[in-house]
Amino acid sequence: MTDPNRISGGFDSAGDVHISNADERANEIVWKILQQDSRLIHLLPEVPLEDDFIKRLRNGTDNSASGQLKETVGTSAVLFNPVNVARRIVQAIIEICPELGFHLDRVADRALDIGRGMDISSDILDVVYQGALLHDVGKLDSIVADIIKKPCRLPPDEKLMIRIHPVLGGSVAEKFGRHPSVVEIVSDHHKRPDHHGYPRLEDGEEIPVHVRIVTVADAVESILGNRPGRRAGDKARVIAELDKGTGTHFDPDVVASLKGIL
Ligand SMILES: [Fe+2]
Ligand SMILES: [Fe+2]
Repeated sequence: MTDPNRISGGFDSAGDVHISNADERANEIVWKILQQDSRLIHLLPEVPLEDDFIKRLRNGTDNSASGQLKETVGTSAVLFNPVNVARRIVQAIIEICPELGFHLDRVADRALDIGRGMDISSDILDVVYQGALLHDVGKLDSIVADIIKKPCRLPPDEKLMIRIHPVLGGSVAEKFGRHPSVVEIVSDHHKRPDHHGYPRLEDGEEIPVHVRIVTVADAVESILGNRPGRRAGDKARVIAELDKGTGTHFDPDVVASLKGIL
């Protein structure tokens, strides 16, 4: 069982994160999502019915989740449409942490708009949308969430701690049976061509276009912040920030498409 107050592991000299209880922490995130939408359990074929997850859902204090489970386990409810699945997961995240859920929604819409302005297939667009919807699911981890909530400057240790969220998120997306390219978006959306991202880009590794699109969409939403109305100066600020990072952090083609729709 995961100790919710502990991350066991550390960081290497380049700042890459290594944690030994990543799987347990990812399971904890899956559990949080299932508490909101137990029907999603059908996406976890690997989980035997007597598994801890099921026991906890059955015996959980959340009566609504237990009730829902009785209706769904043993039925053949199948979640066929992968976009619907990603949307259901985001809906569950909105219930747990609205700020995070709405961020996922905004990044997904932005990524879709950017992708539509590029010469990519509808299959890749689909993957981009799903991956963007899930990209920060790892931030549901209790320790990461606590660190993010802190309003002031983070001490270096805690800054590094946030770096586990793509690792955990990728594992969660995989557990829910998402497409490998969707998983790749979740686990690699902070990689950078100049090797200053996280996890670190391996020598000779290329970041695929579906990941690069989500990285830019995420950056735009971070620059714009969580304000309800966007100010006139925002567009100029986004362009300035993206221009500064083009080639080192952001893909020039993706940035060009973004500028076309701003
Ligand atoms: Fe992220
Ligand atoms: Fe994000």
